[in-house]
Amino acid sequence: MSLAGKRVLLIISGGIAAYKSLELVRLLRQRSCAVTAVLTEAAEQFVTPLSLQALTENPVHTRLFSLTDESRMGHIELSRSADALVVAPATANILARMAGGIADDLATTLLLATDKPVLVAPAMNVRMWLHAATVANMATLAARGVAVVGPDEGAMACNEVGPGRLAEPPAILQAIGALLAPAARPLEGRHALVTSGPTHEPIDPVRYLANRASGRQGHAIAAALAALGARVTLVSGPVSLPDPTGVAVRRVETAEQMLAACRAALPADVGVFAAAVADWRVARAAERKLKKTPGAAPPELALTPNPDILATIAAAGPLRPRLVVGFAAETHDLARHAEEKLRRKGCDWVVANDVSEGTGIMGGTENEILLVTAAGAEPWPRASKDEVARGLAARIAAALG
Ligand code: C5P
Repeated sequence: MSLAGKRVLLIISGGIAAYKSLELVRLLRQRSCAVTAVLTEAAEQFVTPLSLQALTENPVHTRLFSLTDESRMGHIELSRSADALVVAPATANILARMAGGIADDLATTLLLATDKPVLVAPAMNVRMWLHAATVANMATLAARGVAVVGPDEGAMACNEVGPGRLAEPPAILQAIGALLAPAARPLEGRHALVTSGPTHEPIDPVRYLANRASGRQGHAIAAALAALGARVTLVSGPVSLPDPTGVAVRRVETAEQMLAACRAALPADVGVFAAAVADWRVARAAERKLKKTPGAAPPELALTPNPDILATIAAAGPLRPRLVVGFAAETHDLARHAEEKLRRKGCDWVVANDVSEGTGIMGGTENEILLVTAAGAEPWPRASKDEVARGLAARIAAALG
């Protein structure tokens, strides 16, 4: 990604994640992108103007009124001389002020005065992120064309777990690239269909068969494809993840519903089938809750095979996506099973991973894949599911030309 000669105005608002903005500056500077930093008053509690000045090699701005000094650049000029404004981290407070059009400090004044693309990287406590006020503010900003990266899910400084962590600096860098260089959106105009998560197959109205899939890898792939400009339809089984930004999500429970939603989403240029679809469902799910009768034998569950969504879409004739990618979760003989799956299911690539106990892959945040294509098997190093997703999205973009 080339950012040489580009100018980013980086607005840092006050949150514990502000320290990560230093790494972001380093990544931008490595790509010869000029950075001017603006700190809110609260941000100064977390990072110092001096360290930012050293890293950006530019004066750091903190106060509105020092800028109005005749001898210095005015705020209009400061906000317009950049190619993009990036707010990282963006607290709930600055997002609310942006949504409300409030300009009560230098950062928000610049954001109101600019006519350049704006990217926000939210970071806050999970309750604040999920609060109806923040949800409404994000919708307002999205409707105005403000781009968003993250937040990620995970453990937070406040000892809670959930969405709210600042996106990692490489992901913010990629989002800045996408904002500044249309060439960094190689999937613009393409439609991607992605399946994710487990399926739930009902036994009776309260019980179901399920598996341990979290949906993390599928959701990350949907987000990575969207970041490269694709229109993405994500057909997801029940997961506890937030919807990826900029993706149309179709929520389903069963394999049959997932297949119907996939068919309805066609045509697509690429299909990525990352869902852990249940192989079987209960042949006749009970309409009423099965009762436990003392002394009686437990109910016997007769199973029937589910449709194979990947194989069905790969055989969809004229509606078959040009590139069909399947997944193979195996516990042994990865390459052999993946190659066999490639042939049997009629897909173009298989992403194989080892889900043996102890690898921590199923339901975890990291993945170690073997990418199997007609050209052979390629082992990828262990990495976060987000990084694997970005790698796969780049490969998909290259394959679609
Ligand atoms: O046969 P197996 O379940 O190992 O194949 C895994 C691949 O097939 C994954 O890409 C999964 O999403 C897909 N699949 C499917 N429908 C099924 C079973 C698996 O789409 N019923």
